[in-house]
Parts: sequence; C-alpha cells; structure tokens
Amino acid sequence: MRLAVIPGDGIGREVVLAVLPVLALLNEACDLGVEHDVFGWGADEWLATGTGLPDGALDSLATEYQAIVLGALGDPRIPDMAHGRSILLGLRRGLDLYVNYRPLDLPTGRIDLFRENTQGLYVGVGGTIARRGSVSVAIDECVYTRETVEKFVRFGLRRLADTGRTKVTLVHKSNAVPNTGRLWQEVFEAEAAGFPQLSAGQEYVDSFCYHLVRDPSSYEGVLAPNLFGDIISDIGAALMGGLGLASSASICPETGCGLFEPVHGSAPDIAGKGIANPAAAAMSLAMALDHMGYGKQAVLLRDSVREVAGTELATPDLGGSGTTEGFMAEVTDRLGARLGGEADRAGEPATTA
Ligand code: NAD
Ligand code: IPM
Ligand code: MN
Repeated sequence: MRLAVIPGDGIGREVVLAVLPVLALLNEACDLGVEHDVFGWGADEWLATGTGLPDGALDSLATEYQAIVLGALGDPRIPDMAHGRSILLGLRRGLDLYVNYRPLDLPTGRIDLFRENTQGLYVGVGGTIARRGSVSVAIDECVYTRETVEKFVRFGLRRLADTGRTKVTLVHKSNAVPNTGRLWQEVFEAEAAGFPQLSAGQEYVDSFCYHLVRDPSSYEGVLAPNLFGDIISDIGAALMGGLGLASSASICPETGCGLFEPVHGSAPDIAGKGIANPAAAAMSLAMALDHMGYGKQAVLLRDSVREVAGTELATPDLGGSGTTEGFMAEVTDRLGARLGGEADRAGEPATTA
C-alpha cells in the first residue's frame, strides 16, 4: 500500500505533518506496511517555478498510490488561488473524483452529505472582458452532463440504501437556475424510484440551509451539486463544532482513486501559531485507512481523536488550551494504548460468552 501525502499551505501543512506519526505507529504496531511519499506542491513552489500540479502527476497518483491525503491550499500571496485550482481542482477533475463525501457528525445524528465534485460552476468555463484594466464582463458557466449527474446520484442513493439510511434530500435551485436544476431533478426522480427503501424529497438550497440550521435532525442523506455542497459543508461544520472537525473523501468509484482532506482551508489567520485543530486531518487519514482496507485501525483512530477533542489538550477552537502537536501526541498515545489493549486481548485465552 502506498499513500501520497500533499501537505499544501498554511495550517494544511501543520495538521498533516502532525498526523503522520499515527501512520508510523500503525505500521509498527499492526504491521500495515503502508509507505508514504510527501509531495511539496503548493504556494511556495508555484511562486518559485510556476508549477501547480506537475506533468505526469495524475498518472503517477492513479497508478502508484492507493490513496492521497491532502492538507489544504491557499496563500495570501496568491489571491486568485490559481495554484489551488491547478492542484486541488486539477486532482478532483483529473482523477474524476466526482463523489465528495462530507459526513456531518451532529449531536442529532449523522447526515451523509454527498457533493458532486467535478462539474457545475467549477468546470472552469468562462472568461473576462476587461476595459481599461478592470473587469467589465465576467462569465462563469455552470455545466452539468447527464452522465455525471446520473453516476453521482446513483452512487449516493446506493450508498445511503446500503448503509441503512431511510431518507434522502436533493438540494437544488431550479426556481432561479432552471436548466441544470431541471437536469438534477429529472435524474434524481428517475433514479430514486429504484430505491423504494429511501423516502426521497427535494428542497431549494436556501430553504434547505435554513432548515438545516433550525433542525438538522430532519435530514439523513443529502445530494448536492458542487457549489451548494461546498457551502453546505461549512454550515454543517459550524453545527459540528467547527471546521477543525470536518473531514472529506473525494472518490471515483469506478477506478478506486481516493483523495482525503479536511473541509477547511489554509486558515492564514491562525497559520504559524501551532494551534490549528488537527482532528479533521486525522479523521481524513482514518477515511484513507478505511479506503485501503484498514477499517479496524480507522475506528480506533476515530475513537482516540473524539476522546482527546473533549479534553483540555484540545485546541482553542474546541475550548481547550492545547496545540496541534500536543493534540496529536495525545491521540497517538491513546491509539497506541488501544492497540496494546487489542493485542493483549488477542493473547488471552478464548472465553465463551
Ligand atoms: P478556512 O477554512 O481556511 O478558515 C475559515 C475559519 O475557520 C478561519 O477563521 C480559520 O481560522 C478557522 N479554521 C479553519 N480550519 C481550522 C482548524 N483546523 N483549526 C482551527 N480553526 C480553523 O477558510 P478561508 O479563511 O476562507 O480560506 C483560507 C484559504 O484556504 C483561502 O485561500 C481558500 O481559498 C483556501 N481554502 C482551501 C481549501 C482546500 O484546500 N481544501 C478549503 C477551503 C479554503
Ligand atoms: C473545499 C474548498 C474548495 C472548494 C476551494 C478551495 C476550491 O472550499 O474543498 O471545500 O470550493 O471545493
Ligand atoms: Mn469549501
């Protein structure tokens, strides 16, 4: 198994580097044999060489690695985020990672949010007409193909049904954006008819956001076009207790490619202070472990992160007084203890219940 690690910029780098010792521990304690390579793509390289996602990177990631973990991209020196679009959107689109799963773990229950991850307003079709140095016409096209909407909706419905969920909500804005809106509604209605175990509903995105904040317990599974899913995931993160807790998986079900990253960005306001919450990055590593077939280790890692998140060692965004490093050191210790406990139990004589 090989894991590609792209720490990125700002706190992305800080949280990912703090999480890597977990991998070393798991390799040692469980003999996982997961090797990792770190790729320094990000703002510094872009500014020094003009390179975002290097030539050949997509092929190499697709063929030589089983999973990718990314921190975040974003740097105040690159205000238009050109490097981020090259690297992050380049990976999502180039590897056809059209499903972005962003679970919202809320006190009222988990909402499984599926965000389409490659099209919509993110296709990069558009242009600008400038007059006397300032923008006079600006166009960003929203493009959806039936093929992508169908495979995305089908995957979301199948996953919700397979995991015992009973309700699914399509989020759209067909009252104001009728063309792509209608495509999504048509596909959703046709595909949802094949899943009678799911009660299917639709909601305008504005009203959905209102109800999500007022009463998240009314949702179980949510399917959203790209930009709406982006915005909903930050609202969901706020309901969860902060962006430092929200993780995500971008996958291509057909090829098995997977990119795992926190929902948050590079947070220039706290970068360099050593206080970024590493939980979302650790949870993203747990998702990567799941993806590589190490589900048991992923569960133990998640339990350890949740436990430390409730202590004084947690970072200030969670009300603690800890640091990124301290938080992860404690997580690693507790994970080690859990693994030791498992090993002890494995050595015990079998008992009958
Ligand atoms: P952000 O997510 O970086 O930060 C939003 C707020 O949440 C900030 O106040 C920040 O301090 C806080 N926050 C975020 N993560 C945190 C953590 N782990 N621990 C504690 N607090 C945390 O959003 P932004 O400020 O709008 O964006 C900063 C840069 O990141 C921009 O360049 C943006 O384009 C980029 N960005 C990248 C990604 C990505 O790479 N996936 C995602 C979002 C934003
Ligand atoms: C996210 C981010 C990205 C997105 C940006 C940085 C392009 O906000 O992963 O949520 O919009 O998808
Ligand atoms: Mn976002």
